[in-house]
Amino acid sequence: MSLMRIGVAGVGRIGAMHARNLTALETVDELVLFDPQPERAVALARELGAAAVADPDTLLAGVDGVVLATPTDTHPEWVRRTVAAGVPTLCEKPIASDLAELIVLIADVEASGVPVLVGFQRRFDPAVIELKRRLDAGESGTPYLVRAIGQDAAPPDLGYLPASGGIFRDLLIHDLDAVPWLLGEPVVEVFAGGSVLVDRAFADADDVDNAVVVLRFAGGAHAVLTGGRHNPAGYDHRIEVLGSAQSLVVGLDPRTPLTSLEPGGPQARPDAYPGFPERFARAYRNEMRVFVEVVAGRQANPSPVRDSLGSLVLAEACERSRRAGRPVDPASVPADVGIGPAAAVEVAR
Ligand SMILES: NC(=O)c1ccc[n+]([C@@H]2O[C@H](COP(=O)([O-])OP(=O)(O)OC[C@H]3O[C@@H](n4cnc5c(N)ncnc54)[C@H](O)[C@@H]3O)[C@@H](O)[C@H]2O)c1
Repeated sequence: MSLMRIGVAGVGRIGAMHARNLTALETVDELVLFDPQPERAVALARELGAAAVADPDTLLAGVDGVVLATPTDTHPEWVRRTVAAGVPTLCEKPIASDLAELIVLIADVEASGVPVLVGFQRRFDPAVIELKRRLDAGESGTPYLVRAIGQDAAPPDLGYLPASGGIFRDLLIHDLDAVPWLLGEPVVEVFAGGSVLVDRAFADADDVDNAVVVLRFAGGAHAVLTGGRHNPAGYDHRIEVLGSAQSLVVGLDPRTPLTSLEPGGPQARPDAYPGFPERFARAYRNEMRVFVEVVAGRQANPSPVRDSLGSLVLAEACERSRRAGRPVDPASVPADVGIGPAAAVEVAR
């Protein structure tokens, strides 16, 4: 088995975790780190026995693949740079937060032929992968209803809000990606609402801190997605699929922050998931493993950039629906950025 040299750009919260997970892989023997705050890269490199470099060009010289864990607004420029260098890339989500920019970026990435994976970690979560396998195999029967819950334990730093893109593009985008991917069907209608209940700072940022979305799929199934910025019991992410043959759930285990009032029912424990790194630890480890397998050409890309179009269109539709107080056809969204109805159907798929 040939060993690989992998780079990580941006070693903040999630980049440092990805770097640690990469060092645990037998297939990776060299890790190279870059961050414009050099002390961060140097400290982490010392801890992991990696190398820290001073600029992006040095990072990209001679690596087999690169993980981008930089702020969202730097993703399009970074991805252009990595594909121009011919370096397979895993870019944190979202790869772009503006639809028109995303459409151009997808064309550039696809023209380059360089694999680019988007870090929607649910697609790498072993339990979610098993859920998709069962749905694809028809083991659950006809899907009737999907319920997804995405509750942060604590709100993000309030300074983060103005550039976050709002709760649909920032938080619910994960399930706007995962749920249509799981069902493998286009969404034909979106209805969304939201409230400010946690902190007035969300209203000041023209955002909401609790939201609900109803998706109607072409086959008639519905999905109800909920998301919130404050759940003092802990971090809670679940997806439930109720079908004609099975009712399945991911994210329900002894650390799920729920207290049942039924005799013998589960009780929230002190080690309830404090945040996404703990809840999705298996998914993030697998994400790095899959990435190096894609780099080695041994596995297909499970999260290509084109798929990001569907979730971003849905997030835009949610924002419009919340503001207008009425359902929105997601196929109407792309027309506003100059792509026609046929492409819009393709986009929503
Ligand atoms: N998939 C997930 O579950 C998940 C979770 C958290 C964050 N994210 C995404 O990861 C990205 C990073 O988020 P974070 O919370 O780790 O942020 P962070 O602020 O903790 O870290 C970002 C790091 O990037 C560095 N940086 C800034 N500009 C850079 C540039 N031009 N080139 C290279 N590095 C640069 C910063 O110095 C910092 O160290 C965001 O896009 C975010 O949406 C994804």
